[in-house]
Amino acid sequence: MKNEDSMVRLESPPELSMPIGEAMFSQRAIRRLDKDRPIDDARIKILLDAASKAPNGGNAQPGRFLVVRDRDLIRRFGALYHEAWWAKRRDEYGWTDKKDIPVGSVYTMPALLADEMVNAPVVVLAFSIGNAAMAHSIFPAVQNLLLAGRALGIGSVLTTLHPQVMERVYALFDIPSEIEFYCCIPLGWPRGNFGPTRRLPTARTTYWNRWNESPPWAG
Ligand SMILES: Cc1cc2nc3c(=O)[nH]c(=O)nc-3n(C[C@H](O)[C@H](O)[C@H](O)COP(=O)(O)O)c2cc1C
Repeated sequence: MKNEDSMVRLESPPELSMPIGEAMFSQRAIRRLDKDRPIDDARIKILLDAASKAPNGGNAQPGRFLVVRDRDLIRRFGALYHEAWWAKRRDEYGWTDKKDIPVGSVYTMPALLADEMVNAPVVVLAFSIGNAAMAHSIFPAVQNLLLAGRALGIGSVLTTLHPQVMERVYALFDIPSEIEFYCCIPLGWPRGNFGPTRRLPTARTTYWNRWNESPPWAG
């Protein structure tokens, strides 16, 4: 960032007192959000402050976040999200309807979110400005935001859109065309529980010194 004077130091907010391990190991995709319980601005600011602290290329800080809490805008965005979600399933699997989704599929809950996005109390859209080489800086920031949400008890899930709706999304929020969209994150108080999550063992996903060589804990 060119204007060093405009940068701020922030102390860790006392609200973020959950141990980092607990936050990381219980953070999960929360798609069922309480539509009737709002999240106050002070908590949203904590999430954005946490995002701002993430590593980023050259400290250029290209990430930009659009926080949407206007009900009418969320309702219109939710309709576009629903269209995008189904466009993606159509492209990937030829699905056009819930009855096309196999029983027990990992897409069952995401399909529910496609219906419920209209009711999310808050939606955050994440963008990057400028240099494409720096653009992936947005993901550490998004992860900080998700973890801070977990620490505050706020549910979230990282989601994406589809080219079919992008022009309309940009028009809905007056987003300049040169700004690059990355992901959208509905936020709300959970109607479910955080963690535990299930993941592949790191003995399988980690190599040691050379590709395909097991780490010491592989046994
Ligand atoms: C790049 C990316 C894209 C994702 N897209 C969607 C999505 O479109 N819809 C959705 O419901 N979840 C989406 N997710 C959330 C994942 O489904 C979720 O993180 C994963 O299933 C693990 O869930 P868990 O942490 O609850 O175990 C996405 C996550 C990532 C990182």
